[in-house]
Amino acid sequence: MALVAVTRRLPGDALDRLVAAGHELRVWPGPLPPSATELRALVAGAEGLLCLLTDRVDDALLDAAPGLRAVANYAVGVDNVDLDATARRGIPVGNTPDVLTDATADLTMALLLAAARGLPDAAAAVRRPGGWRTWEPAGWLGLELRGARLVLVGGAGRIGRAVHERAAAFGMDVLPVGRGDDLHAAAARADVVSLHCPLTERTRGLVDAALLRRLPQGALLVNTARGALVDQDALAAALHDGQLGAAALDVTDPEPLPHDHPLLDAPNLLVLPHVGSATHAARGRMADRAVDNLLAALDGRPMPYPADRR
Ligand code: DGY
Repeated sequence: MALVAVTRRLPGDALDRLVAAGHELRVWPGPLPPSATELRALVAGAEGLLCLLTDRVDDALLDAAPGLRAVANYAVGVDNVDLDATARRGIPVGNTPDVLTDATADLTMALLLAAARGLPDAAAAVRRPGGWRTWEPAGWLGLELRGARLVLVGGAGRIGRAVHERAAAFGMDVLPVGRGDDLHAAAARADVVSLHCPLTERTRGLVDAALLRRLPQGALLVNTARGALVDQDALAAALHDGQLGAAALDVTDPEPLPHDHPLLDAPNLLVLPHVGSATHAARGRMADRAVDNLLAALDGRPMPYPADRR
């Protein structure tokens, strides 16, 4: 039976199934992620690793665990894992697709609506003396979703499709954009751009100053995918000069974003602490999938949820 390193306590009782199968768990006890050094110590002698998106799985880590036979990422995104390094060692990597799709798509709509109707500023005004003076005919005007053009970057993926379905129900004119499509041309006709593609070397910094300039003035940006898809300096500049009407982000680079980060000085910006999958149901099912992946691989079977090579 195998030693399995787990980099954080998880909600639910999925880990019990590893113990029931005879595996031994070494669970990182802290509320914050282990440092790289602590992570190397945690995986020493382990054959299985259950890690989070906050854990970097690279050559240095894999060298510290020469007996590792399986990596189960407790996330659908696997940009924290060097898939070339694991492939070179023949270590299968699994992720947690599908089970967080609805939760993340729901949050995307919440952010989209919040940005479209200026909810953060409106709510803050209520608490400010004199901030809510009367019902104003021309006050707090926002974007109506029916008929508005939504460009979904990565729109053919699981979460992109789930957002498409929801946005269509609101009457939005949805344009999915994928690899090979002309994102700049699509952006030029967007009222809202929402990001749903994985973070890879190809997509890093995809939303840069040039793309932001292509948007019609006052367009909105929503990001529930990965922070590094966006050039945050360019984003801050576009919010300050009004090119972008608002941005609503569940993800940033880095995470957490320091409380005094310059991006937070930008107007019309809503930032959440990466909570797209944060429902009781989704997080429990993610743990189940990660455990399913480990049980299979440690038993010499293919993982049921292998991470795509991109
Ligand atoms: C994932 O699974 O990649 C999500 O970002 C977690 O919320």
